[in-house]
Amino acid sequence: MTHAPLVLSGMQPTNTLHLGNYLGALKNWVRMQEEMPCLFCVVDMHAITQDVGYGHPAELAQATREVTAAYIAAGVDPRRSPIFNQGQVPEHAELAWIFNCVARLGWLDRMTQFKEKSGKHKERASVGLYTYPVLMAADILVYKATHVPVGEDQKQHLELARDIAAKFNNDFGVPDFFPQPEPVITGAATRVMSLRDGSKKMSKSDESDASRINLTDDADTIANKIRRAKTDAGELPDSEKGLEGRPEAENLINIFAALAEKPKQDVINHFAGQMFSTLKGQLTDLAVAKLVPITGRMKVLLADPGEIDRILKDGALRARSIATPIMDDVKKAVGFVA
Ligand code: TYM
Repeated sequence: MTHAPLVLSGMQPTNTLHLGNYLGALKNWVRMQEEMPCLFCVVDMHAITQDVGYGHPAELAQATREVTAAYIAAGVDPRRSPIFNQGQVPEHAELAWIFNCVARLGWLDRMTQFKEKSGKHKERASVGLYTYPVLMAADILVYKATHVPVGEDQKQHLELARDIAAKFNNDFGVPDFFPQPEPVITGAATRVMSLRDGSKKMSKSDESDASRINLTDDADTIANKIRRAKTDAGELPDSEKGLEGRPEAENLINIFAALAEKPKQDVINHFAGQMFSTLKGQLTDLAVAKLVPITGRMKVLLADPGEIDRILKDGALRARSIATPIMDDVKKAVGFVA
């Protein structure tokens, strides 16, 4: 049986979104709306797995509204693609519990993101942080979603979701019940790196704000951050091979290519033999042209939080109408008496 194509993706409402979230995921979501039905989630239940989201209800609610506004400002159309927060669709948690019993400890022990996020004191991390990828599998499979547009850092979690789907289908004797969701990791910037250190991923949790461009930064801030971005001493190379061992140069070229929607080689050719200052100048103009209008639209949307809440409520209702019959079938398959 082939499953009907359906996109599901999400972002955590922790701090503000940055250029990595935009180029690695959000920009692709906007395009995928043209290709198949989509659902976009704000994963507030994931946000409480760590201190940033846990125990700060007002900030969490505000961050959820901001992420919703960013989705819409970037081009997600909530009439076409429901936008909702995970906490309003209880089927995610219901399926996650069942998946906690499907997934094996050994599988979760291999998850590199838990190791990175829990740091040196694993015993102090929440149980939720450990089982985070299981909830993510439930987010996707509770809708039988087939395509999941994400950045490269989510690849391992997607592999786990595929393993959980296959084991559920096998163990409960329901071949092909859940699809094997495909990661869609695409574009020139699937892993945007820090502007301060080309070996580190651009991240919401980096303590240096100069390491990332936030979707709330104004034109001057964007220009300043790009001007101060780390570089090396060489001229820009004329081939992809010439970028090897030059992570900062590669990162700026990738960002340029993704924002300009041009093949990487064209961007390399354009800047071959030039100084970093030339690349930085043109990148600033491009980033400001692409990002500042999004920031402006976000501000307008956030001025009316009631409307954002209405969009989320409507999205949750539409999401539930897909998830409820699937959960009914899951419960039947598992043996929960109705
Ligand atoms: P999160 O909130 O960390 O990131 C949201 C999306 O942005 C991508 N991303 C990046 N892409 C390129 N370069 C970067 N530096 C960069 N940083 C982040 C992420 O890959 C992601 O696509 N676990 C997910 C949220 C989630 C989810 C889901 C995603 C929960 N359930 C179901 C898809 C489907 C996360 O923490 O993303």
